[in-house]
Amino acid sequence: MIRGRALWCSVVVAAVFASASVYSQALRPCSNASLSPDQRAALIVAQMTFEEKMSLVHGHMPMRMKPMPDDVVLSAGYFPGVPRLGVPALRETDASLGVANAGRQNDDATALPSGLALASTWNPELMFAAGQMIGKQTRQKGFNILLAGGVNLVRDPYNGRNFEYLSEDPLLSGVLAGASIKGIQSQKVVSTAKHFVLNSQETGRYVADARISEAALRESDLLAFQIAIEQGDPGSVMCSYNKLNGPYACESSYLLKDVLKTDWGFKGWVMSDWGAVHSVGAANAGLDQQSGQEVDKEVYFDGPLRAALASGEVSQARLDDMVTRIMRGMFANGLMDQAPDFGPLNTQADNAVAQMAAEAGIVLLKNKGAVLPLKESVKRIAVIGPYVNTGVLSGGGSSQVAPAGTYRVPRPEGTGWVPTPSYHPSVPVKAIAARAEKAEIVFDTGADIAAAAKLASSADVVILFAEQWTTETRDVDLHLSEHQEKLIAGVAAANAKTVVVLTTGGSVLMPWAEKVPAIVAAWYPGGRGAEAITRVLFGDVNPSGRLPITFAARVEQWPRQTPPGRGLVREGTSPVIGAQDPPFAIDYAEGSSLGYRWFAEKAEMPLYPFGYGLSYTTYRYSEFKVTGGDTAEVSVSIKNTGRRSGTETAQVYLRKGPHRSQLRLLGWAQAVLKPGEYKTVTIKADPRLLANWDEAARAWRIDEGTYEIFVGPNASEAVAQTAITMRGRTFAP
Ligand code: BGC
Repeated sequence: MIRGRALWCSVVVAAVFASASVYSQALRPCSNASLSPDQRAALIVAQMTFEEKMSLVHGHMPMRMKPMPDDVVLSAGYFPGVPRLGVPALRETDASLGVANAGRQNDDATALPSGLALASTWNPELMFAAGQMIGKQTRQKGFNILLAGGVNLVRDPYNGRNFEYLSEDPLLSGVLAGASIKGIQSQKVVSTAKHFVLNSQETGRYVADARISEAALRESDLLAFQIAIEQGDPGSVMCSYNKLNGPYACESSYLLKDVLKTDWGFKGWVMSDWGAVHSVGAANAGLDQQSGQEVDKEVYFDGPLRAALASGEVSQARLDDMVTRIMRGMFANGLMDQAPDFGPLNTQADNAVAQMAAEAGIVLLKNKGAVLPLKESVKRIAVIGPYVNTGVLSGGGSSQVAPAGTYRVPRPEGTGWVPTPSYHPSVPVKAIAARAEKAEIVFDTGADIAAAAKLASSADVVILFAEQWTTETRDVDLHLSEHQEKLIAGVAAANAKTVVVLTTGGSVLMPWAEKVPAIVAAWYPGGRGAEAITRVLFGDVNPSGRLPITFAARVEQWPRQTPPGRGLVREGTSPVIGAQDPPFAIDYAEGSSLGYRWFAEKAEMPLYPFGYGLSYTTYRYSEFKVTGGDTAEVSVSIKNTGRRSGTETAQVYLRKGPHRSQLRLLGWAQAVLKPGEYKTVTIKADPRLLANWDEAARAWRIDEGTYEIFVGPNASEAVAQTAITMRGRTFAP
């Protein structure tokens, strides 16, 4: 925990001006909350010396600082602030799933389930609550910037960081990321939205050039960021490592100046990803702050920026703009008005938020013969999996949260630094035993398949945990390990009531799916994951999670089967080292037709479609009505026709525009329904989803004509459809 020497804005102002008889309000940007963040930022920047301004535009990565000053703790980023003017140190920590540990000893924090688990809730209110909880812990630990808001679309199923992201759909990702950012910032902490943009794989992330047409980008990854920024208003946007159609993203004036700051009117600051700056030219392209300077080849925003300012290559006005944007983000989010409320954490309450999110994000994929929910009468339960008596798997890399008691798998003997999986201290065997008090719980690691099968045959039901570990800096294969696939086959042959619980970073291939009656996608379920899974297995929670990504039946169904650049670049390297790898291009030829849109375009049948998830109850849709005109407005009634309360997520899709088939999620609504209950929900489509990007007009364009719209419980299942007429129009970006 940080104990700062920092002076807070109001303290400084009071001390400096207590004796002044006349002190104009207008000159007191720090304490004068009646001024707008823009006014306060402009006033404080006007009082800064050149050196003070420079201290805000390049900052440190504490882990690599030599020597490390006393008031700096191990975390992602640090800037000393401007104590004279009451600007606190900028203390940055990762990430979207909670306060990351960054190697600090005995530091507790609450771990949310993975981004894909959160997104499977399709629930912005829950995203807000989750954001609020991690924002609060960020402040309690003395940080004021959370490097959260991972908005990148899941383009390729092998991306090692998919677990940090939300979905393959721009609307779903944008709305949910926006709600999370809002929740975080409600706690007087700045959140980022990251990684801007198209850092869609980890292989060669420092050198890859992501190529895509402007229209496709606007309709997909950029749209996700645009919606997230509109709804969440993050203080900062983090530009990504990769290049975009030529220049590095952090040096792309198209991206930073034209799109972000001009078209979208973004008023906050752009910070670089750690090691993503390659020249001082980035300042003129729109980058406002160099992060983690220790991992760049040079501190471009120090010496080279001073030289560029002296020669006029970068203007003084641009430096002022950079600093004003940083200060604006700090004022707008209350960082200047209040010191952190240092711990202690309210772990119990915060864990309850994590558990609620995990419960709502678990997706029931298969339930043949209603194996689930487990019967109260079950007498002997076999729990199988390598760490079922240790904890639940989590994703690795900078976002790794480590609640007290997390188990980290030791590094193999004789290796240098290699990432290894961590298990959150939520133990499946214990959680199941606590719930099924009368049953006998037996468990096995599954290392010996014959022994596991023998145990399985002695039980009434088997809960088999299958896992896929993913981490930042590495992409993955889509199969579970060969051993796990054989284990599933062996155990399922021994006991017909085998329930597979998947803890994975994203979608996996399931050639074994037919062999088992039930499959549960629990993603990385977070610090209370085992309890959440148990409650779903026993029916205390009726599963309502819906897939935010497509699960393919075969790897060939994806536009790319392996990451471009694999074999060309080293895996798992640090930025400076990585930058020496040979550059290569990734051609995103599928454009904005990613995920379910791609499957629809190619008429491919997924194993489990986008939006899909089973429940322990059933629903019936009726009275589907849609009006057209400027956008599509939908109403539909949903009835719970089963015997348990549940939450249904009605999804509305565009199937076909006037010229071509285009499957697109237009909106969704959730109805919480008791047995027999009936509700009508309404959905108004964001018109950008009915439009295409017109590159010549630099605007969205809706073509006049007929649009086919359907409603259903997932992208592949229309329960009712209709056609509407849309008025042709062009509108602002
Ligand atoms: C990651 C960012 C992270 C930063 C600081 C980078 O390697 O890409 O997501 O915020 O490190 O830890």
